[in-house]
Amino acid sequence: MKDLTPRRADLDPIETASRDEIEALQFQRMKQTLTHAYQNSSFYRDSFGKAGAHPDDLKTLKDIAKFPFTVKQDLRDTYPFGMFAVPQDRLSRIHGSSGTTGKPTVVGYTASDIDNWAALVARSIRAAGGRPGDILHNAYGYGLFTGGLGAHYGAERLGCTVIPMSGGMTERQVTLINDFKPRIIMVTPSYMLSILDEFRRQGLDPRASSLQVGIFGAEPWTNAMRQEIEDAFDMHAVDIYGLSEVMGPGVAQECVETKDGLHVWEDHFYPEIIDPLTGEVLPDGEMGELVFTTLTKEALPMIRYRTRDLTRILPGTARSMRRIEKITGRSDDMIILRGVNVFPTQIEEQILKCPGLAPHFQIELTREGRMDSMIVHVECAEDQVAGDARAVSAKELAHKIKSIVGISTRIEVQDPGSVARSEGKAKRVVDNRPKG
Ligand code: DLL
Repeated sequence: MKDLTPRRADLDPIETASRDEIEALQFQRMKQTLTHAYQNSSFYRDSFGKAGAHPDDLKTLKDIAKFPFTVKQDLRDTYPFGMFAVPQDRLSRIHGSSGTTGKPTVVGYTASDIDNWAALVARSIRAAGGRPGDILHNAYGYGLFTGGLGAHYGAERLGCTVIPMSGGMTERQVTLINDFKPRIIMVTPSYMLSILDEFRRQGLDPRASSLQVGIFGAEPWTNAMRQEIEDAFDMHAVDIYGLSEVMGPGVAQECVETKDGLHVWEDHFYPEIIDPLTGEVLPDGEMGELVFTTLTKEALPMIRYRTRDLTRILPGTARSMRRIEKITGRSDDMIILRGVNVFPTQIEEQILKCPGLAPHFQIELTREGRMDSMIVHVECAEDQVAGDARAVSAKELAHKIKSIVGISTRIEVQDPGSVARSEGKAKRVVDNRPKG
């Protein structure tokens, strides 16, 4: 793989600024954001009032802890536009959360918000190894989901040639990758695996493709999955993180030269890690729930938004801005099986250690008697379809999960192609336990 480290001269000056400079900018912007939210959003005026907090109370960055958290339910309660801090005629665009049931969570952007977002995604693509002039294949879904348009505007801003593919039509994705020869692909990691399968189905060598960088996010994925994709395509696989409530893709990005977690673009977002049970702020380095305060957003400032994503904050490396470790999972995706906490990413890690298995899987939860149990549906590798090979892999995986994750599972090794595919975010857990 090529060394794609960007030239220092091409970075935004703030990416290499000192911590003092970054914190001074954060403080000034945080103050402005709190004041804007307080003055222009009745939601925040009420919530600050209830908590006895006022923007004047912010004397240092850490004073943000005096302000109340914001949660997804607040957006639902004020559906659709109740939390916005600008009049509707200043909104350039609306997006919505990817929730599958009920009404979406609605977020909005002014022209200036869209401009900042494009600049941050451009910065993210550059950190991943992208350059002006690159052809970029964008397979994130276009629509209310922030992935498609968010990646699109950023890629254009950087000066790339964008192919606005969106998700789906996998056969066509592969045809166009072969014909247009993009250097970069942006897509969910799980859908990248479907694209990989399609390469093989068409008898094409993925390692011979033009792709040099994949910018993967919108769902949790492991370093083991990174290795799998990098080996299969002979390309760099880097992580992009974001959420619609805070902006969309491009809140944090991994650098291609280090691949050691994601730098939070701290000039626009202030991260905290809290204990999910008590809400107490934890020191850098400790695992907990990620919380963001936006520092420049006009339409929908987010004050201490609880993401439910679990990670920890680490010091800067390739950039001076702090990193978050690859997300382990969301607190709502945590499975508690007979008292043991399990994340789908832990299962993914073990599957990738079994050579007889393909990395397509889904976890099914059932109840047998009074006991919850877990079935892992996973596909066998193309060359391991014989019954005894499957039995060996099933045993191997059950053993790894038992000894490393600490739970007993039933493993169903299925035919290639039989586990449900998604064209965007993978659905990793199916809960078939009786309700109530
Ligand atoms: O998924 C935004 C996005 C699009 C990010 C494309 C990256 C690429 P939502 O649909 O609002 O927004 O979902 C946000 O997805 O709270 C995480 O739980 C999860 N997520 C996003 N990126 C990552 C990642 C977009 N890199 C929710 N690793 C977040 C793990 C991620 N989880």
